[in-house]
Amino acid sequence: KENTFTLHNDVEIPDIGFGTWQIPNEEAYDAVTVALKNGYTHIDTALVYQNEENVGKAIKDFDIAREDVFLTSKLPAHMKGYDETLRTFDGSLTNLGVDYLDLYLIHAPWPWDDIGKDCTEGNIASWKAMEKLYKDGAIRSIGVSNFSESDIQALLDACDIVPMVNQIPFYIGRDQKNLLEFCKQHNIVVEAYSPLATGQILNSPEIQDMATKYGVTPAQICIRYCLEHDTLPLPKSTNESRIIENKQLDFTLSPEDVQKLDAMQDVRAK
Ligand code: A2P
Repeated sequence: KENTFTLHNDVEIPDIGFGTWQIPNEEAYDAVTVALKNGYTHIDTALVYQNEENVGKAIKDFDIAREDVFLTSKLPAHMKGYDETLRTFDGSLTNLGVDYLDLYLIHAPWPWDDIGKDCTEGNIASWKAMEKLYKDGAIRSIGVSNFSESDIQALLDACDIVPMVNQIPFYIGRDQKNLLEFCKQHNIVVEAYSPLATGQILNSPEIQDMATKYGVTPAQICIRYCLEHDTLPLPKSTNESRIIENKQLDFTLSPEDVQKLDAMQDVRAK
């Protein structure tokens, strides 16, 4: 059986998710099929990835029961408001060809073309719609993505349900320390997107040395690092051997080595 994280409403979520950001719809069917074939049961998509249709089709065609897949999608960042959230959620269900989601997230607190804009009112209205969908049983758990401490606090102050998840960029060199601590205090599971910094940290000598030391690949060091920090990694790949590799994590990093990686700067190619 797969390892899982348990959300604060007792829903279990498999500890490695298959990320589908930047997988075009044409490639999503094969990529998700390969992921399912290799034991991934947690698939992460979003309306704005424009691949929901083939993600859903791949799940449907695969020999796996709907309840054995943990499926996440997201409300686009520029869509804020109660009715718009209900309507957009329905659209994602239709695209995916399913009648419920395991997790639905507000994709970001602000629109991507106006990062940092104060959308508190809109986020609260969207969150209330998500609470309704959750209470109606259309979603098994609800959360946010790219939310800061203050973005989350605004929901806590105005709403009933504490988000079960915050999905954020997290990788070696971007430790998100305060936000991780805040989420832990509120029993919010942190999901790590771009655990490989979209591939940009895999050439780092420190990470490569550590990979040699443990007899694994740099990507496996990066993904294991997320788990060592109790974040749930969502690696993305369209290549079968890398899809397999990203889930083979039967080793642990020593506390000293985690500290060494913690001390690294963000070495992404800028
Ligand atoms: P590819 O799809 O060709 O495998 P992230 O998950 O941080 O967004 O990173 C995704 C990027 O990292 C993609 O470019 C992906 O390319 C690449 N990638 C994914 N897994 C591996 C791996 N195990 N080794 C090297 N590169 C990888």
